[in-house]
Amino acid sequence: MSKVILITGTSSGFGRTIAEKLHSEGYTVIGTSRNAEKIYSNYLTIKLDINDYEASKSEVNQIIKKYGKIDVLINNAGINITGPTETIKMDDVKRVFDTNFFSQLNLIQTVLPQMRSKKIGLIINITSIAGYLGLPFWSAYCASKASFRVIAESLNIELKKYNINVVNIAPGDYKTEILNNRRDSDNPSSSPYFQEYENIIKSVNGKMNHGRDPIEVANLVLKIIKEKKPKINYLVGGFLEKKITLKSLLPDKLFQKIIMKLYS
Ligand SMILES: NC(=O)c1ccc[n+]([C@@H]2O[C@H](COP(=O)([O-])OP(=O)(O)OC[C@H]3O[C@@H](n4cnc5c(N)ncnc54)[C@H](OP(=O)(O)O)[C@@H]3O)[C@@H](O)[C@H]2O)c1
Repeated sequence: MSKVILITGTSSGFGRTIAEKLHSEGYTVIGTSRNAEKIYSNYLTIKLDINDYEASKSEVNQIIKKYGKIDVLINNAGINITGPTETIKMDDVKRVFDTNFFSQLNLIQTVLPQMRSKKIGLIINITSIAGYLGLPFWSAYCASKASFRVIAESLNIELKKYNINVVNIAPGDYKTEILNNRRDSDNPSSSPYFQEYENIIKSVNGKMNHGRDPIEVANLVLKIIKEKKPKINYLVGGFLEKKITLKSLLPDKLFQKIIMKLYS
């Protein structure tokens, strides 16, 4: 039987492109969306809000019952809420962490017993280049992605004897629906951050509108699935984006100056 692959958030963007690519390659793909009206795929898509931990557990167990296994979990679903770190609502920060961190960890905890019993498995987390640096007004998103990136490192050591690999894919700017689905905090003209926040939003929106084709990420996912010994961290995007790890070679404040030049 072909590999059974569960991908979260397949109604648009990376998730949809990855699902279509893997389905066309003959894999058994199960996608998810929170909205029944967004379910229009030619592979199985289930209605699931990953923030509902019990529903996530139940769906994963039903898939395992139906197909006998989940070979690959792709934690792709994600959200972004921006805002000045001083004033962003704590509920919004928690919402970002719930989707980008806790709900994904819940899915990992749910698939692992089955993967361990079979002594094989692959988990791919779609993190972000934003998880390697603190962008202004993107702090909740950057922090959620940075935190989740580290989970893979812990897990790879814990799971070594079970032949389970946990991989991060950190993309740069890609043209998906993330721009339309992102929520920005209120920015009243009385805010001390009014102008800077406005400028960054404009600059990032401009960059995202010229983002790269998500098929690059889907192709990388396919390559990793075929790999015997995948790496832990993959960066994908433009030349400069992929060089983000070199930031440790520069003084922190010089690095921030360079980044802010790119966003001005
Ligand atoms: N685009 C980029 O440049 C970029 C760069 C780096 C990282 N990323 C990451 O890539 C991943 C995919 O984003 P994208 O760019 O493809 O954006 P997108 O087009 O907005 O897709 C996001 C997907 O996540 C799903 N989703 C959101 N909250 C969910 C929840 N609570 N439960 C279930 N599904 C949920 C959405 O599905 P429904 O609304 O149908 O439920 C949608 O299918 C995210 O983790 C994002 O942070 C994107």
